Amino acid sequence: MKLYFSPASPFARKVRVSALELGLAERIELLQISLSPVSPHTDLRQHNPLGKIPALITDEGAALYDSPVICEYLDALAGGARLWPAAGPARWRALTRQALADGITDAAVLVRYEQAVRPEPLRWAQWIEGQWLKIRTALEALERDSLEGVFDIGTISVACALGYLDFRFAEEGWRARLPRLAAWYALISERASLAATRPS
Ligand code: BEZ
Repeated sequence: MKLYFSPASPFARKVRVSALELGLAERIELLQISLSPVSPHTDLRQHNPLGKIPALITDEGAALYDSPVICEYLDALAGGARLWPAAGPARWRALTRQALADGITDAAVLVRYEQAVRPEPLRWAQWIEGQWLKIRTALEALERDSLEGVFDIGTISVACALGYLDFRFAEEGWRARLPRLAAWYALISERASLAATRPS
């Protein structure tokens, strides 16, 4: 298998963490690329018309995207129901946490592009504040959630979202407002899969 990724991408990190946890990392060749909304990657677009990472090319030559699809594929390859609860309330909880965490990450990446890529005169402060409202409200929901002792695609997604906030927006200082989430994150960050894929 081949994975188009960037070390900074929080969505590609979900895939790398899943692969490590499932014992599949050595079967995946990592193809590191750099791209932005204004500098697409020609080779990647032949596989994913959206031109986004992560994209996985299976051993059969199929292109899979985006991160939920790839992570579920890897889980199935490893026997199934390892990081994706099979059925019932645990599954819906995991998928909803994944949606919430991916929403945080989506908003944070949009803010990053707005601040790092968009020319300064075109930046829109109110729009950026709208993204931060989503992020902060979602983080407050996670503070009220019971993440302790759960390790699945939902909590992997939460850890990768928080890792991206620390990586690109360290000044946000979410830990001071959200002590329970901070304690959970400190513990889960010690896992080898998360330590090995920390963005740099
Ligand atoms: C970043 O550099 O922040 C980034 C890179 C790839 C995907 C998303 C974000």
